[in-house]
Amino acid sequence: MKKNDTFELKITDIGADGEGIGRAEGFTWFVKDAIPGDTVEAAAMKIKKTYGFARLKRVIEPSQQRVNSQCPIAGPCGGCSLQSMNYAAQLSFKQKKVRDCIERIGDLKASTVDDISQAGEGVIPVLPVIGMDEPWRYRNKAQLPVGYDKSGRMVAGFYAGRTHSIIPQSDCLITFPENAAITRIILDFCEKNGISAYDEAGHTGLLRHILLRKGFTSGQIMVCLVINGDSFPKAELLAKELKAAQPGVTTVVININRERTNVILGRDCRTVYGPGYITDNIGELSFRIDAMSFFQVNPVQTLKLYSKALEFAGLTGSETVWDLYCGAGTISLFLAKNAASVRGVEIIPEAVEKARENARANGVDNAVFYAGRAEEVVPRIFEEEHCHADVIVVDPPRKGCDGLLLQTMAKMEPERIAYVSCDPATLARDLKILKELGYDALKVQPVDMFPQTPGVETVCLLSNTQRPKKESYITLDVEMEDYYRIKNEGKNSTT
Ligand SMILES: C[S@@+](CC[C@H](N)C(=O)[O-])C[C@H]1O[C@@H](n2cnc3c(N)ncnc32)[C@H](O)[C@@H]1O
Repeated sequence: MKKNDTFELKITDIGADGEGIGRAEGFTWFVKDAIPGDTVEAAAMKIKKTYGFARLKRVIEPSQQRVNSQCPIAGPCGGCSLQSMNYAAQLSFKQKKVRDCIERIGDLKASTVDDISQAGEGVIPVLPVIGMDEPWRYRNKAQLPVGYDKSGRMVAGFYAGRTHSIIPQSDCLITFPENAAITRIILDFCEKNGISAYDEAGHTGLLRHILLRKGFTSGQIMVCLVINGDSFPKAELLAKELKAAQPGVTTVVININRERTNVILGRDCRTVYGPGYITDNIGELSFRIDAMSFFQVNPVQTLKLYSKALEFAGLTGSETVWDLYCGAGTISLFLAKNAASVRGVEIIPEAVEKARENARANGVDNAVFYAGRAEEVVPRIFEEEHCHADVIVVDPPRKGCDGLLLQTMAKMEPERIAYVSCDPATLARDLKILKELGYDALKVQPVDMFPQTPGVETVCLLSNTQRPKKESYITLDVEMEDYYRIKNEGKNSTT
C-alpha cells in the first residue's frame, strides 16, 4: 500500500475525534467523515507501521446512522465533524468516549449504563448523555476571522480545518440565526468605506475578527469588532446601521488587538454604542456578559449541566462549599442559593470582579471570591486556616486540575466532590489521582454542550468512601511528588 492507493473499507469503530476506524490490508485506518456502519472507498494519505490515515473518496454503502450534512461547508470547515451521524448515534458515541477515557487513561473500571443500578460492584457508571431537543442553533457566540477571498473580496467565515485560510460563511447553523445578516452588514460597510481586513502574514489591515454574542433569554446581541489599530472609522454610523437592521443589537464595542498573535481578543475594549455588555439568565440568575467574559456557549445545556452539578453537590443549606476555577461565578451563585457559604477561586482578576458584581446583582451575600491560581490560593488558605470543605466543585480548563490542588482538596476532607470537565481525558487522569487520594467516582453524567462536534462535557460525583487516615497524607505527598516527577521526566524525554 502506498500514498493515494484507493481501497474499500468497512468502518467498524469511531475515534475520539469522531473519525471512522476500519481495518484493511493489515492496517488500521482512520478516515475523517466516515462513520461506523459505512462501507467506503478511501484513499491512503499517511501510512505508518500498523496504521494509516485515509481520505474518504466515496460512500459505497451508507451506515444506518448516516444523515445528510446540513451545512454547505461541512467538509472544508470541519468544525461540526459529527453532523453526518444521526443525533442518537452522536450521543451514544460521546457516552462511550467518556467510558473509554476512564478505562484507558484513568485505569479504572467503568461501564455505560442506563441507570446506576446496572453497574457492578467497583464499576463506575457512565450514564446516557443528556442531549438537546433541538441540536442546532445552540451557540450564543460566533467568532469570525475577516480576510479576503481569491478575487479580493472581503470575507468573514471560518478557518479551513488546521489552516489559516478563511472559508466564507454566510451562516453557521450551530450559531444564532442573526449572525449571518449582521456579518453581511459589517462587510458591506467596510467595502463601502474603504476599511481593510487584517492580513496575518504582513500584520497589516484593520478588521481582524467579528465577535458576536447573544443572550438567549434577553434577546440582546453584542457586536464586537476586533481591530489592528486604535480606532474604527465611522464606528457610530455602523452601530446605527446595525441597530436599524437588527433591533436585537443593544451594544457595539471595539476591541484593540495590535499583537502578532492567534489570540483573538486584546485587553483594551471601547464601547461605541450601548452599555458595553449584554445580560442573560441561567435559571433564575442573571449575568452581565461583556466581550471578554467566559460564559458557557450553550445556554440551554448550561442550565442542565449546572443543575446536575448542584444535584451532585447534594446541598441542604448548611454546607461550606468551594467552587474552584469559578470564572465569573456562574456555578458559585447557583450553589450559594443552597449552601451556607461559597468560596470561589479564579485566575483572571476581571472575571473575579465580575463574579462579585454578579453576586451583588443577584442578591447573593454568602459568596466570596479570590483571584489567583487555584493551586496556589487553596493550599495557602488551607495552611492558614486548616479549613474543612463540605463540598468542592471544580470546573477546570481542558488541561484539568493541578496535582497540588487535588492533594489540598483531599486534605480539606469534603464529603463530596462534583468535578465538571470539558475534556474526558484529563478528567480520567484526575479521577485516577483522586482515587489514590481516597475519593471514588460514584457516577459520571455526560452532557452534550456541543452537538454536531466530538466535544463532551461531563459532571462526575466523587465521595471519600475510602479516604486514607490523616497521617497517611505524608506518605501520599511523597508518592504524588514521585508521580509528577516521573510524569514530567516522561514529558521532557519526548520533547
Ligand atoms: C471551564 S472554565 C469554568 C468557568 C465557570 N465555572 C463557568 O462555568 O462559567 C475554567 C476557568 O478556569 C480558569 N482558570 C484557568 N486556570 C486556572 C487556575 N490555574 N486557577 C484558577 N482558575 C483558572 C479560567 O480562567 C476559566 O475561567
